Amino acid sequence: MSDTETSKPDIAQLLEAHRRDRASLHWEGTFREYFEMAVKRPQLTQLAHARICDMILAAGTTVINPGTRDEITRYNFFSEELFGIDEAIEQLVEYFKSAAQRLEVRKRILLLMGPVGGGKSTIVTLLKRGLEKWTRTEAGAVYAIKGDPMHGDPMHLIPQDLRPEIQKHYGIYIEGELSPQARYDLEHTYKGRHEDVIVERIVFSEKDRVGIGTFAPSDPKSQDVSELTGSIDLSTIGEVGVESDPRAYRFDGELNVANRGMMEFIEILKCDEKFLYSLLTLSQEQAIKTGRYAMIYADEVIISHTNENEYQAFVGNKKNEALQDRIIMIKVPYNLKVSEEERIYKKLLSQSSLQGVHIAPYTLRVAAMFAVLTRLEPPKRANVDLVKKMKLYDGEDVDGFKSKDVKELKAETVREGMFGISPRYIINRLSNALVQESKKYITPIDALRTIRDGFEQHTGITAEEREKYLNLITLVRKEYDEIAKTEVQRAFVYSFEEMAKNICDNYLDNVEAYCNKEKIKDAITEEEMEPDERLMRSIEEQIGISENAKNMFRQEILIRISTYARKGKRFEYNSHERLKEAIEKKIFADLKDIVKITTSAKSPDADQLRRINEVIDRLVKKHGYTPESANELLNYVGSLLSR
Ligand SMILES: Nc1ncnc2c1ncn2[C@@H]1O[C@H](COP(=O)(O)OP(=O)(O)O)[C@@H](O)[C@H]1O
Ligand SMILES: [Mg+2]
Repeated sequence: MSDTETSKPDIAQLLEAHRRDRASLHWEGTFREYFEMAVKRPQLTQLAHARICDMILAAGTTVINPGTRDEITRYNFFSEELFGIDEAIEQLVEYFKSAAQRLEVRKRILLLMGPVGGGKSTIVTLLKRGLEKWTRTEAGAVYAIKGDPMHGDPMHLIPQDLRPEIQKHYGIYIEGELSPQARYDLEHTYKGRHEDVIVERIVFSEKDRVGIGTFAPSDPKSQDVSELTGSIDLSTIGEVGVESDPRAYRFDGELNVANRGMMEFIEILKCDEKFLYSLLTLSQEQAIKTGRYAMIYADEVIISHTNENEYQAFVGNKKNEALQDRIIMIKVPYNLKVSEEERIYKKLLSQSSLQGVHIAPYTLRVAAMFAVLTRLEPPKRANVDLVKKMKLYDGEDVDGFKSKDVKELKAETVREGMFGISPRYIINRLSNALVQESKKYITPIDALRTIRDGFEQHTGITAEEREKYLNLITLVRKEYDEIAKTEVQRAFVYSFEEMAKNICDNYLDNVEAYCNKEKIKDAITEEEMEPDERLMRSIEEQIGISENAKNMFRQEILIRISTYARKGKRFEYNSHERLKEAIEKKIFADLKDIVKITTSAKSPDADQLRRINEVIDRLVKKHGYTPESANELLNYVGSLLSR
């Protein structure tokens, strides 16, 4: 048996462990026992907002740029999944912190407002999945009255008139009333003996409809309020006779099941008014109006999301004033930092079928630059253009600018981040390019091309936007051209010695011909040419040799060569101190020419081929390319340089 086989877990053992886990979460006891436990662990009596707040804070924080003016506190709970929207997250956490202290904000509906694909649903999903995990932990344990479809808080068993005393002696704050079912059970099953009522530990689960609810608006004609607040149970109403008997009712609406936890209201403003009223009472009175019952107490966080258009229409409508008052809106704009945008793509790609595909360096960066540019408002200052602003936002050093400038640039904007291209658009385009062209890799140029092609197909993009986006593609393309050139030059510069030798040989050939008043033979075409004066000067100028002094310098070099030759030594580029200096200084300036000659050679000679292969090799080994993508980069830079 191989190692991997022996280390594979046994299915029976896994299931056994799974059952043990679940069993360890089980607790059942009388209310009297529960009360003893709650006295020792006050967090058991906390309300929904405080529970979520604790959950978020328990994951800890990370301080970015500590001690500087750019200090940001990042909440780990969100920071693995959401990038570049720190401000929105911070506001969200502030909301939960205030709500946890039972401030008035708790009674308001949280509304996330932002452009499509900006992470609103992701925030809500993180909270939901988070609660499912959190309530399985010791710190996040939740207990409920057994048999209560709304899994009500056991503390509700304490009658109103005893509560002040409980608060005084035990410091336990109690809010709310038993649900109709729990009240019925207390009377009938437990014969009115509160202390005997059975309490159990519950674990939140959206699937099991415990502690987490979701409501999505559909056709208002067919959709019924019962989806929110439950309905008469037609199978038992015959037996029970009266509609106000809890046995005749199913407390299975989304608002019922979300008691103690949270409820997601998808696209709240698309909803029919009749649904919004249920929410209004819930948020104002902490109660659900259901069937023939008095108000049913409920304690839950309500989160919803919407886009800017719908929000503006909602705010503009006088009829909605009451509800507007009950809403706390948090803006969730698109991320505006290129490097964070890249992280979003990496995350999305790792979840997609594109995992095995080679993505050439700078591909995601170029796509991110484009996406961020579409989201920016043009800066008002004369000395900042859109690209500079993009770089400043990403924390890049732009000469003469400080973080204070970034704040000022932000302050002058109105709707920045609320429009533009979403991360999903970019990912869809990249996938599209790979599928359609059945390529094994994708380059920055492919990315820009597929993004551009998408403008035609995407119905959400207006003609005006398309115009703007095409210009941005051009801007990004320019940025990338510089990046590509530097990338290739960098790969060349590692063969510094060789480059120095080449420049030197070239220079010496020319100097020799010049001094001997001869022509020089082209290595490839064998064509006779005049010595290249420009080339010689470009080297000599590096060390300040004037037009008048050039002859003397060239003679001096020739003399040195013959001295070396007499001694049987090879003249190298570093055999003459000043020449060496000139060549070294020239290398960076000259790099462009070398790169150009090598990369744009239509039929490279053996030497050029070898150099190309070396550069490709270096790009592959040190810079994350594959031979194909490196080759494409070289060709691209070649075509750029020979323009
Ligand atoms: N700032 C961000 N950080 C990480 N992922 C993001 C961000 N914005 C969007 N995404 C990703 O893009 C996709 C669409 O986001 P989603 O939450 O559905 O947006 P919305 O609900 O606002 O339309 C999701 O996979 C989400 O994870
Ligand atoms: Mg969404």
